[in-house]
Amino acid sequence: MSENEVVEPVIGLVGGSGLYDIDGLEDKEWRTVETPWGMPSDQLLFGRLDGVKCVFLPRHGRGHPIPPSRLNYKANIAALKISGVTDIVSLSAVGSLKEELPPGRFVIIDQFIDRTIARDKSFFDTGCVAHISMADPLCNRVGDVLKAEADKLGIEATRKGTYLVMEGPQFSTRAESELYRTWGCSVIGMTNMPEASLAREAEICYATVAMVTDYDCWHTEHDNVTVESVVKTMQANSAKAKALVKAVIPALGGKKRGLCSAGCDRALEYALITAPD
Ligand code: ADE
Repeated sequence: MSENEVVEPVIGLVGGSGLYDIDGLEDKEWRTVETPWGMPSDQLLFGRLDGVKCVFLPRHGRGHPIPPSRLNYKANIAALKISGVTDIVSLSAVGSLKEELPPGRFVIIDQFIDRTIARDKSFFDTGCVAHISMADPLCNRVGDVLKAEADKLGIEATRKGTYLVMEGPQFSTRAESELYRTWGCSVIGMTNMPEASLAREAEICYATVAMVTDYDCWHTEHDNVTVESVVKTMQANSAKAKALVKAVIPALGGKKRGLCSAGCDRALEYALITAPD
């Protein structure tokens, strides 16, 4: 985006397990969006909330048919970019790696450790090579708005935290869980990378609400993580997530704006780029 340009924000929502719709969305329409990288997880739901344009993508597809390692992350981000999305709010179920982040807590994270090993991670993998900065991998402008809206709604949300992204689909071993705790990680999940790095390559602002569903397996006083316990807490989290989304869309999209103060919308200007011969 150039210096004098003014954009009308379009808010993209990527919903994880348990979130398949946006409350109060008007002029709703599910549309198929094709991309040069193939098809996204599902059709995208277009609509308006308080006049703000929004686009919703169910990350795993409606009915949750696609596991984390099989998601076409490039097509998902490309479909949102093609649809004009400027800001992505990613909603993701996670396990907690810290005592003080109990199930039900929302963490608006600010860092990642990426331990995924089997994913297609860059739009720049043939021809033109680009190395973008991921020093601050999330949009702090969007993150601050999320925290402010959560506070207004009385939703317990922690600002900052490191999200360990694992390949899955199995949960961690106890030794891995303990290791990640020694690394200072806050939460663990399976989906936010390369989603966040691809959003950065696409110059889309991206922030995550990590919704804690369980204590992972390190916490000896809690049961080892089971799918049932994760789904049960996720259902309780989803009502809060829907309220937060409803508040954050008008807060992010209410008026036109210039450059993002966090710089995400011009990430490629600062990237190291090698053009093909
Ligand atoms: N998603 C929800 N809980 C999780 C956990 N404990 N590990 C990885 N992903 C998760």
